[in-house]
Amino acid sequence: MLLTSDITAERGLLRFITCGSVDDGKSTLMGRLLYESGVLAQDHLENLTAESARRTGQDGTIDFSLLFDGLEAEREQGITIDVAYRYFTTARRSFIVADAPGHEQYTANMVTGASTADLAVVLVDAARGIVDQTRRHACLVALLGVRQVVLAVTKMDLVGWDRERFQSIEAEFREFADLIGLTHVVAIPLSGTQGDNVVRASGATPWYEGPTLLAHLETVDLDQTAAAQQPFRMPVQWVSRADNVRGYAGQIAAGTIKPGDRVVCQPSGRTTTVQRIVEFEGDRDAASAGTSTTLVLADEIDCSRGDVLSAAAQPAEIAGQFEVTLFWMSRSDLIVGRSYWLRLGPTLVSAQVTNIKHRLDVNTLDKLAAKTLEMNAIGVCNLSVDRDIAFAAYAENRELGGFILIDRLTNATVGAGVIQFALTRSHTIRWQHLDISRETRAQALGQRPAVIWFTGLSGSGKSTLANKLESRLHAEGRHTYILDGDNIRHGLSHDLGFTEADRVENIRRVAEVARLMADAGLIVMVSLISPFRADREMARDRIEAGEFIEVFVDVPLQVAEERDPKGLYRRARSGEIANFTGIDSPYEPPKDPEVYIDTLAVTVEDGVASIIDTLKARGVLR
Ligand code: ADX
Repeated sequence: MLLTSDITAERGLLRFITCGSVDDGKSTLMGRLLYESGVLAQDHLENLTAESARRTGQDGTIDFSLLFDGLEAEREQGITIDVAYRYFTTARRSFIVADAPGHEQYTANMVTGASTADLAVVLVDAARGIVDQTRRHACLVALLGVRQVVLAVTKMDLVGWDRERFQSIEAEFREFADLIGLTHVVAIPLSGTQGDNVVRASGATPWYEGPTLLAHLETVDLDQTAAAQQPFRMPVQWVSRADNVRGYAGQIAAGTIKPGDRVVCQPSGRTTTVQRIVEFEGDRDAASAGTSTTLVLADEIDCSRGDVLSAAAQPAEIAGQFEVTLFWMSRSDLIVGRSYWLRLGPTLVSAQVTNIKHRLDVNTLDKLAAKTLEMNAIGVCNLSVDRDIAFAAYAENRELGGFILIDRLTNATVGAGVIQFALTRSHTIRWQHLDISRETRAQALGQRPAVIWFTGLSGSGKSTLANKLESRLHAEGRHTYILDGDNIRHGLSHDLGFTEADRVENIRRVAEVARLMADAGLIVMVSLISPFRADREMARDRIEAGEFIEVFVDVPLQVAEERDPKGLYRRARSGEIANFTGIDSPYEPPKDPEVYIDTLAVTVEDGVASIIDTLKARGVLR
């Protein structure tokens, strides 16, 4: 690990990212930078010279791209495919450079690199000029809060060091940069292969009076004290217990903390005093933004991973709904209403995009109407999380305002976003307190509520089972209700079809109604195909713990198709009905349902009996 705080204190540490399209000569430029900065070890240089000679068949010329192209696959394909972080240091400053990929499909990696960068070097090939990818990268750089930009106009030797060419590229870029709020732009004409204006000022550009790339990187202003002066914030990464002392460990996101300071654990709101700042080498008198540390508190407040410890006098904002700018990086489109995991620092919550306000055309910056976001799209959206969280607008604090969205099933990162502000709705619409509690209602009915969620293919027998189960429960004097897919679609969901987005909304509505009915004390049976795992998980999250019972009614597709009670499979096969589950729309079976019913092996009566057994085992029925 680097002791970044020590380096910062001595000379300043600049984190920067390089972004360019394929073949902009990025690796060559960075290789040249390292080589001429004199930071390469002798043996490394000798290897490089030998390797260059072997590849080019010529002695004496160095292929600088070899220095920076770390990855085999990249050499084979001629593209860069992952973020590589490199550390180097010159007499004046230390650097961590994130080498971001050029190819459009790898933009996700660039987002990762840019989220921690102070400066971005945006490469433009002098011959090709500004391309879509340049604008996309500039947008992302602005979105992720990188304020300093170097516009490196590369391969100037190939356009004969044409001053007008350089100036027109610079002017075009500045115009675009202004629109997206990038105000600190320094444009440099250079050549990675020749080395002009990389470390040495070039004789070929008498008309250029600015700094070389290295000189600029070494001297650009770094506002490194600003974060330490904000109110204190530390997201809790984990709670440790050594020598019977409970410590709250995390990286300080903003401000400075000293023993004796009052802190509040958010969102719970409990306050206490910092007793000690414990580090491996011993206790400290103070710690500031950027430092990873452990705090020991005076009282045992119930503070856990994902909570935020904040200055008690100036706590962080808390909300559950936000306007966010979202960058989508999955091959599957964003689905409005679908439940994703949202990770904000160590905080992990369920989240849904509730509305896409618009998508951004990265070339014109026009706001386009959008129902979904495709891979690489940038959109402005409303997002809600299932419990309130402490946060900051990204513009104020990257750690507390930047998040990623994760697919609940594959665990893949599907989006990266920044919080613009909280939507006031969560503050203006309060949850109305009701004097009669759900427990009281359930007691009056003499039962424990539950939501029994039947999922399975059309024709699997969900409704038959639910019906039989309800008859049994009713006969025993239970208060019940059935929410059946076909019936719901005549009323509550009559406006919805069978696209993925419509099904998500259908399931959300039914889950909400089921939740209200369970609150009213009922035992609710839901019979919905509900083909997507993520949506069933969303339903489960909405229901009180222990009250959700998923029943997987399993039938092979072929058998459902043979039964075809409503003749729908036949019509789907003939192309008359689109998006039919099992035919041209997927069914994702539950991995771990509370009840599994193999309809080929058991009768309806046995199926009902096994559900009743589970209800008894869970204490719903006695
Ligand atoms: S869900 O996917 O949103 O859960 P739901 O259970 O409400 O589906 O509705 C399924 C019922 O609608 C089926 O039992 C069938 O009768 C009918 N249906 C009509 N078109 C389709 C379709 N394209 N896919 C699945 N079911 C369909």
